[in-house]
Amino acid sequence: MTTTIDTGLTKTERTDVARELTKVLADSYAVYLKTHGYHWNIRGPEFFALHTLLETQYREIWEALDTIAERIRALGEFAPQGYATFANLTAIKDGDPEKDAQAMLKELMTDHETLIATTRAALKSADSDGDDVSVDLLTTRLASHEKAAWMLRSTLGSR
Ligand SMILES: [Fe+2]
Repeated sequence: MTTTIDTGLTKTERTDVARELTKVLADSYAVYLKTHGYHWNIRGPEFFALHTLLETQYREIWEALDTIAERIRALGEFAPQGYATFANLTAIKDGDPEKDAQAMLKELMTDHETLIATTRAALKSADSDGDDVSVDLLTTRLASHEKAAWMLRSTLGSR
């Protein structure tokens, strides 16, 4: 059965925002996977602090994945599903367990910056399409990734 969607946004506005949210979701999934993997594989004298920091970060992203995917559904589009599908939607590469702790943290910081750029572009799109709910969601995501990038930067000893 097909029903029409009348939420005050046009079909074009909804698909436009859903496409942008899909990019944010894919980048977020990649950063989630890498953060969880580095939580397992990070090594060194600061092990426990870093292991714990990364757990805090991957749990926060994990919660957000569901919120972003469900917003895509509320806009009337399918959420992407499966490893291969996600891999095709993001430029963020898999982590490398052989890296040392400094290199892992630096890579994650850069990935958060990539994700921030994707999120900022999606936010502009949602704003121009008049989708206040997605603007709110994406603003929250921006704040979270800027905070994560700051924590990684400070852990690396940078300002
Ligand atoms: Fe764990």
